[in-house]
Amino acid sequence: MLTVGPKKIKIVLLFKRLFVAKIKIQYVCNSCGGIFPKWQGQCQACNAWNTLEESLETQSQHRFQGITKPALQQKLSEIAIEDIERISSTIPEFDRVLGGGFVDAGVVLIGGDPGIGKSTLLLQTLANLSLSGLSVIYVSGEESAAQIASRAQRIGSYAPDLSILPEIQLEKILNTLENVRPKIAVIDSIQTLYSDSLSSAPGSVAQVRECASQLTRFAKSSGVCLILVGHVTKDGSIAGPRVLEHIVDTVLYFEGDTHSSFRLVRAIKNRFGAVNELGVFAMTETGLKGVSNPSALFLSQSTEIVPGACVLVTQEGSRNILVEIQALVDTSHIPNPRRLAVGLEQNRLAMLLAVLHRHAGIACFDQDVFLNAVGGVKISEPAADLAVLMAIQSSLKNYALPKDLVVFGEIGLAGEIRACPRGQERLKEAAKLGFKKAIIPKANFSKSIKIEGLEIFPVDRIEHAINLVRNF
Ligand SMILES: Nc1ncnc2c1ncn2[C@@H]1O[C@H](COP(=O)(O)OP(=O)(O)O)[C@@H](O)[C@H]1O
Ligand SMILES: [Mg+2]
Repeated sequence: MLTVGPKKIKIVLLFKRLFVAKIKIQYVCNSCGGIFPKWQGQCQACNAWNTLEESLETQSQHRFQGITKPALQQKLSEIAIEDIERISSTIPEFDRVLGGGFVDAGVVLIGGDPGIGKSTLLLQTLANLSLSGLSVIYVSGEESAAQIASRAQRIGSYAPDLSILPEIQLEKILNTLENVRPKIAVIDSIQTLYSDSLSSAPGSVAQVRECASQLTRFAKSSGVCLILVGHVTKDGSIAGPRVLEHIVDTVLYFEGDTHSSFRLVRAIKNRFGAVNELGVFAMTETGLKGVSNPSALFLSQSTEIVPGACVLVTQEGSRNILVEIQALVDTSHIPNPRRLAVGLEQNRLAMLLAVLHRHAGIACFDQDVFLNAVGGVKISEPAADLAVLMAIQSSLKNYALPKDLVVFGEIGLAGEIRACPRGQERLKEAAKLGFKKAIIPKANFSKSIKIEGLEIFPVDRIEHAINLVRNF
């Protein structure tokens, strides 16, 4: 009979532990990142329910930390400073949000609702780049090669040399990219990919995270610029763990109403440029077209003056945009009146209504309040506060504000109106578009400001502003 001594078994186990990379499955919470060896309904770290997802754990790298050579450190003065070389996307509005263009080894994530135009914009970009002689590749997990070709034909972006790769297996894609080494590759979309090393389905958090991190590692080691398309969940964040946003260099979001033709591309994070830059596009028969002067896009087209509308000058990155804020205040027949804001922050609306009651004596506790920013824009800057309250007051008292009035200003809890950044630029933009009156924070006003054709009314408290518009 063949027997193996206990000493031999021990040696084999030790060998395995030291030299064979262990692949273990672990469960990671997608809201806090807590790691657990078994699946459970609730994350013990952050108490969230149903957030644990299967993920891959490889221990081999950690085991050898003691014997590897120490990592090389460098002094700042020893590092050669390189200018970041930009590859223009050939679409000026797209370059603006990218901070000037694509960067070698950069990873860009583009998110947005289905049908908003992600694939269209990227196909147009790649077609233009391919026509200019650059090596680019479009990896599509969603559409067949024939569908892409017919879209290219339809939008007039037919580049005969553009490479299309309809594939969803990560290892095959990486292999192709490794062989071809294109300058830029688009992955449409990250949710359709799957890696063989995981058993979970494509689109699951574990798969999305694994595919994105392998692709990012490839981009960094090879210098290929990658553009990943990401789907957006119902609550508006890119599906998959937040980690996805952390591992890439640039995160762009497509915004806008799919019913209107305007699309906004906003930079949320950018390691190579300014954030909050905005690219404005119009969806046309021949694809997305950049709109270089969008200031007046978000004003409603009605020629009559109606109660409940107020024009705001808002700033998006380096741009001034005029947006009409609409409010509807109506008697409520339910115990908890509704407060609904589209394109503006709902919590801020509740706070502003409290300020309006406490400091200007205007109560809305028995009224439903609906708020909308025209054109599907999302406004997050507090400079919109004053325009919101003006629109609400105008709808509640049923009088229209002058059509040639613009407003901006942040409102504090004490009812004071605070200054907004770059007030003078906002006023210039309003004057350029033919507005005649402006209500602005007193702190933004100085006697030296003279803007032709614009009458400026500085205010420092909410009650002053409300009294002022009553007398217009
Ligand atoms: N055959 C067509 N004719 C005209 N417009 C089309 C056609 N097919 C798609 N579109 C337009 O293109 C948009 C789809 O854009 P797409 O780039 O596929 O979006 P995403 O990739 O973000 O899901 C649709 O919303 C529609 O407006
Ligand atoms: Mg698409």
